[in-house]
Amino acid sequence: MAAPARKPMIAGNWKMHHNHFEAIQLVQKLGYRLERDDYDRADVVVCPPFTDLRSVQTVIESDRMHIQLGAQNCYWEAQGAFTGEVSAVMLAKLNVRYVIVGHSERREVFGETDDMVAKKVRAVLGQGMTPILCVGETLEEHEAGGTDAKVSGQLRAACAGLKSDDVAACVVAYEPIWAIGTGRNATPADADATIGVIRSTVREIAGDVADGLRILYGGSVKPGNIAELMAMPQIDGALVGGASLEADDFARIVQFGH
Ligand code: PGA
Repeated sequence: MAAPARKPMIAGNWKMHHNHFEAIQLVQKLGYRLERDDYDRADVVVCPPFTDLRSVQTVIESDRMHIQLGAQNCYWEAQGAFTGEVSAVMLAKLNVRYVIVGHSERREVFGETDDMVAKKVRAVLGQGMTPILCVGETLEEHEAGGTDAKVSGQLRAACAGLKSDDVAACVVAYEPIWAIGTGRNATPADADATIGVIRSTVREIAGDVADGLRILYGGSVKPGNIAELMAMPQIDGALVGGASLEADDFARIVQFGH
């Protein structure tokens, strides 16, 4: 039986950039820049900071744009005495559809553990949203040949105890830490090979849903390298940081190969 087709996804991770005025402008520019065909070819997602979500939601909905809304993080409890945190329940109320979980900056700068990442994945799924689960190795791990073990381990920890249907409802992003914001990216062949390893691990965890699961590459994706990444059989899309902050660059990435 043929493997199910996987619709490409291009997701912009704005990180801690753009206040809500700038966010509105960027989404409006993107809306002008992208055509109906672009959304048919790829799911287009923007993940602004929390303070922008409501404004961006309003622009998307009032202009009936096909851009989808994502968040960059969440907390796993629904509510309570957790000063400074934002719950998955609150995000779902804003029609957020995707939540980035376990980004390497969360893990490295804010000490998120595999256990915390697993709780967040469950909280996001519990609200009917899609986690964009990030995995990736450090430069030291990469140079020591530890990439496959690292990404498989992170994936197993995040998915421990999940049913196959839950795993099927996730998106995974392979983001080698040494390639994020450095201008240095994994070669398409290396990224493809590691994503192949991730897909095999998903198959061990959840069986055939691995064939339909979207696995993105992230790390210095630009208009100039997206086409060769997307040409690889295992790479289903991109999680884009720096190049998602400008409408023109992001639109050119969405329109890869055109
Ligand atoms: P970058 O970031 O595209 O700026 O390397 C990617 C990410 O961290 O998601």
